[in-house]
Amino acid sequence: MTPSDVKATLSFSDGSPSMELPIYKGTIGPDVIDIRKLYGQVGKFTYDPGFLSTASCNSTITYIDGDKGELLYRGYPIEQLATQCDFLETCYLLLNGELPTGDQKSEFSHLVTHHTMVNEQMQFFLRGFRRDAHPMAILTGLVGALSAFYHDSTDIHNPEHRAISAIRLIAKMPTLVSMAYKYTVGQPYIYPKNDLSYAGNFMRMMFATPCEEYAPNEVLVRAMDRIFILHADHEQNASTSTVRLCGSSGTNPFAAIAAGVACLWGPAHGGANEAALNMLEDMQKAGGVEKIGEFVKQVKDKNSGIKLMGFGHRVYKNYDPRAKLMRETCHEVLDALGLHDDPIFKLAMALEKIALEDEYFVARKLYPNVDFYSGIVQRAIGIPVTLFTAIFALARTVGWIAQLNEMIGDPEYKIGRPRQLFTGSTQRQVVSIDKRG
Ligand code: CMC
Repeated sequence: MTPSDVKATLSFSDGSPSMELPIYKGTIGPDVIDIRKLYGQVGKFTYDPGFLSTASCNSTITYIDGDKGELLYRGYPIEQLATQCDFLETCYLLLNGELPTGDQKSEFSHLVTHHTMVNEQMQFFLRGFRRDAHPMAILTGLVGALSAFYHDSTDIHNPEHRAISAIRLIAKMPTLVSMAYKYTVGQPYIYPKNDLSYAGNFMRMMFATPCEEYAPNEVLVRAMDRIFILHADHEQNASTSTVRLCGSSGTNPFAAIAAGVACLWGPAHGGANEAALNMLEDMQKAGGVEKIGEFVKQVKDKNSGIKLMGFGHRVYKNYDPRAKLMRETCHEVLDALGLHDDPIFKLAMALEKIALEDEYFVARKLYPNVDFYSGIVQRAIGIPVTLFTAIFALARTVGWIAQLNEMIGDPEYKIGRPRQLFTGSTQRQVVSIDKRG
């Protein structure tokens, strides 16, 4: 961190001594005021529920400029990575800081490919779930359970353990997600196949059966790979912060990533892709494009409790660059499948147009986020709606690991332990039960 010449001075209106606070400059983005000594010196905490103004760490991995609608992984614009690299190159970049050379890419791909099988016992563990369990419930359990199967990579403070658990997690997530899917539809699991690409292998494990091979469609495989790239990391979002906080106690990497999966499930975060598609399908049933006006009116009514899912973002106050790329992929996939007239896609575009012109959305800088279009692409590929968030988790796993490893390697890292403003009862005495009333 580079200290700035400028310092912040915190003064108090009650005459208490003021305090000078150091400021650090990042390479880009807002400076931060270092408040670590605040409590020790003035006996006060800062208050920032939801972390609206708080940087929880310093990081070199992902940068977002929410006003410009810019997303960089290790300095590279997401548009370039999505069009010039594949997911495994992106994984290598996020984990190691640089794009791989040809040899490094081959070595990395070989390593990931040769860790895709899961311990055979995992399927017996999976069998304990109800067939109608939500895939995210299953995935949270399966990822956490990896720590019970791979004891030789559970010491987060051991760099070799971290390296091997990273490869295992990236390699095994597609296997686990497709197993969760196959289990819910009552089909046999399909084992990974080493001569396929990462995305191609995942799609085969999803769609092949022992009696029928999956014939990969290159457009769809590329679309899936792009979904993975676009979801690979997104700086200190809720699930990543969860992984960091969970890992800060020294727990094993599988447990920390399972915590991330659990957090991602929520509809305000990764669950939004499922919620967005359900919303579009409900709108279509209720009258489609004709009814957009009525729907938008409900969204604007604060008492309705209805949100336009796939719209809005804590950081982006401009078009989410991932949504632009996803909309492009939507066109490609629907064209390749001869679904140009897909009513849900038409509805989504009409809804986007109306929302972007509406004063409510303009004033609040609400734009489509990645989830607005990713559901349409996945549905066209044949992915069931309930699996959307699990695919997001699969893709985000590399980001979670890169962030976790960065934290463990940071000499300034400490267990995460926020404080609070206590507003409950002051000390009081227990009264015996017969005297309470
Ligand atoms: N529909 C209608 N109104 C909205 C929406 C929306 N989707 N999003 C925000 N608003 C309103 C909100 O009611 C508030 O209005 P007011 O100022 O009058 O009270 C204003 O816009 C600011 O919103 P906020 O909730 O204070 O903003 P936030 O930063 O706390 O929340 C968000 C961000 C993503 C949780 C929220 O926009 C949202 O719930 N969106 C829908 C869910 C969604 O699509 N989530 C996916 C995020 S991208 C994928 C990922 O990274 O996980």
